[in-house]
Amino acid sequence: MQMPQLPQPTYYIFKCEQSSPPGMPKPSCVNGETQGMFNYLGMSLMQKGLMGPVQLIRTSCLGRCQQGPVMLVVGQNERFMYSNLTNEKIDRIIDEHIKGGNPVTEYLIPEQFWGEPMAIK
Ligand code: FES
Repeated sequence: MQMPQLPQPTYYIFKCEQSSPPGMPKPSCVNGETQGMFNYLGMSLMQKGLMGPVQLIRTSCLGRCQQGPVMLVVGQNERFMYSNLTNEKIDRIIDEHIKGGNPVTEYLIPEQFWGEPMAIK
């Protein structure tokens, strides 16, 4: 019996949802000001009819805490880390990158924090 092909999302969005306990000196992506951002991102994707072609994934720390809030956008042969997110930036990323195919370069993490992939030995 042949199994039907399942379509795959065009984009996966990994949104860091790590929060540090109160008093922790290290910053984290989720704090009192940013705790609603994941839901905002999900609602925006839903309202624009993008759930399905885009799969939103809640993750723990992505290792870029000083530049948070961050999210990783993974496409067919591409991956982009967006940093210092706000709801307004998320709207623009959805419209220009996810819908339009053009990454919003000024919101990408600075190059020194996003080098080449580590070699697997
Ligand atoms: S807490 Fe978000 S990248 Fe570390």
